Amino acid sequence: MLFQIFLVLQFIPMIWTAHQPPTLVLVPGAWHSPSHYSLLLAEIEKAGYPTSSARSPSCGSTDPYSQSVIGDAAFIRQNLLLPLINAGKDIVLVMHSYGGCPGAMAAKGLSKAEMPAASRKGGIIGLIFICAFVAQEGQSLIGSLPGKKLDPWVVDYGDGQLGLRDAKNVFYNDVSPQLASQAIIQLKNQSQNALETPSGPPAWSDSFYNGRRAYVVCTEDQAVPPIGQQLMIQHSGVKWDVANIPTGHSPFLSQPGSLAAYIMAEVAKFQGGASNPNQMLSISNTTEIPLGSAESSEPPNSALFSTVAVPSNLAAESGIASFSMGMESSNLIALLDLPADS
Ligand SMILES: *[C@@H]1O[C@H](CO)[C@@H](O)[C@H](O)[C@H]1NC(C)=O
Ligand SMILES: *[C@@H]1O[C@H](CO)[C@@H](O)[C@H](O)[C@H]1NC(C)=O
Repeated sequence: MLFQIFLVLQFIPMIWTAHQPPTLVLVPGAWHSPSHYSLLLAEIEKAGYPTSSARSPSCGSTDPYSQSVIGDAAFIRQNLLLPLINAGKDIVLVMHSYGGCPGAMAAKGLSKAEMPAASRKGGIIGLIFICAFVAQEGQSLIGSLPGKKLDPWVVDYGDGQLGLRDAKNVFYNDVSPQLASQAIIQLKNQSQNALETPSGPPAWSDSFYNGRRAYVVCTEDQAVPPIGQQLMIQHSGVKWDVANIPTGHSPFLSQPGSLAAYIMAEVAKFQGGASNPNQMLSISNTTEIPLGSAESSEPPNSALFSTVAVPSNLAAESGIASFSMGMESSNLIALLDLPADS
């Protein structure tokens, strides 16, 4: 009897692993926390996909000068990506706004293709940018702008922290007043350093992500202008699945259902469209899930961590997340070194 159970237990993880849906890991934008994305994440969970998110250390920090985009990336890698990968889970990384910078850096080297077949590990199978920054290596955000000029809606407190004014119109222009005010009270100060420090090598340019990278252009975005989003896609030099959606900077609040549907469609494509399906298969048939494994490990500062058993209202205690780089299109054009009349 015991022996039979043992055999069954041996097989279940194998079968289950081969078909398990990837985990969607969401990297919030500047000023924002996972709770801002709770409506979207609830939709994704309802569709049967586990989700995970955490507020970046540079958001709501008490030591803004010690923050950096590299620090955020290291945090994402250690606390969100590696525990899942080591537990044999596949991941689709969803990044919003500033989250595109540390997210793409954190993902470097962690694609499914880069995991040795014998390692029994999962890996990242796709990248989805939601009006997010596509930073090149060495590129910082604010630091690259002429005169390091922040948009007028960014409040510079002069102590390393950045706040916001008029968040309703900048971030939540198409969000209901009630939801927007809930979102606004959950915004936290953003470390300016994190927006100024240069990015490391990003994962999005890797050829593994050909057919596995998607960009959602938000055409009514008042924070990162749609022209800026399009220029970043063009300037990347790689091919994206591009969806244009008529929303402001926070479609996870104004159109969570449609955004989730789009994300799910992309995820299905990533799952089916393996650039090397045989390799994907051979990896999954060796995967064993250590029961009760690393997925439940807490990051060092659990206050920063909010997994997504999120309540579907935004009153959750942890942060919020949608960033936006505080960037006018003229700045973006300068940043991308493109003719000013594009
Ligand atoms: C943001 O930082 C400023 C300056 O340090 C501070 O006065 C303000 O209370 C902070 N706001 C929040 C929401 O923490
Ligand atoms: C996958 O399973 C097959 C059949 O059991 C086995 O021959 C193959 O070696 C496995 N793949 C890996 C990478 O171990």
